[in-house]
Amino acid sequence: MNTPPVEISAPSRGTLPARTVFARLERPALADRSSITVIAAMDAAFTGEMCELIWADGSTKVMPVHRWDRTACETDLQLLVDMCQGPTLDVGCGPGRLTGALTVRGVPTLGIDISPQAVRQTRERGGAAICQDIFDPMPGSDAWQHILLADGNIGLGGHPVRLLRRVAELMRPDGTVLVELAGPGVGWVHRQVRLRVGQRVSRPFSWATVGLEGIDQVAKEAGLMVTDLRCMTDRHVATLKHARSAPKMMGP
Ligand SMILES: C[S@@+](CC[C@H](N)C(=O)[O-])C[C@H]1O[C@@H](n2cnc3c(N)ncnc32)[C@H](O)[C@@H]1O
Repeated sequence: MNTPPVEISAPSRGTLPARTVFARLERPALADRSSITVIAAMDAAFTGEMCELIWADGSTKVMPVHRWDRTACETDLQLLVDMCQGPTLDVGCGPGRLTGALTVRGVPTLGIDISPQAVRQTRERGGAAICQDIFDPMPGSDAWQHILLADGNIGLGGHPVRLLRRVAELMRPDGTVLVELAGPGVGWVHRQVRLRVGQRVSRPFSWATVGLEGIDQVAKEAGLMVTDLRCMTDRHVATLKHARSAPKMMGP
């Protein structure tokens, strides 16, 4: 059976639909063996199957699982792990390289991911993890000192302002969100993407990319403020705080 045609919107900037409904993504297409849910595709990727991203313009990219299932490298440690001294929520933790590294250091850390495989692998590393969507209700509101949005996870749900508002609810008043950004020249972009594993293709879902020039505006709209920006080996991590508690970042 062929993959049913899907409507894919062109990349857009700025205002986005308010809510990505994962339930809709996960409703299996009845009797359609050529479709796969997003969660099943992520699970397949984390168990070693090749998973491709298919962008709205038809271009494809192999999902870089090798970046997520390794142990934390020196750049991960310096840009992300060293910045977390108190309770840390690792959003979209994947197989848990950061949750694992923080746990080894004795930093109380919880990974959260929609993929059961990701959660299982995080636990196998000795990390704590729960299997749920970051937008679903969770215990420990207002409790986290640090929130990690590593390796493009500011794109989860396709609406970075909404995601930052959500994680800000979970963060202590003096807490920080560590956001790994795309490089210069991106601003922020919203796109539709599908996942392909073998012959099976997921429904389209929203993904956003936020670059160095985009983060100030996105943070401001979410009631946060960029207080620090660190770059190392072509990777960029911004520190965000609640705007009311944040000292302004000094210019050069
Ligand atoms: C880029 S990968 C993981 C990267 C991981 N943070 C790292 O740096 O090693 C993104 C992860 O987010 C998870 N994810 C996607 N949407 C999510 C959501 N709404 N809530 C929680 N996890 C989500 C995916 O299952 C996937 O494991």
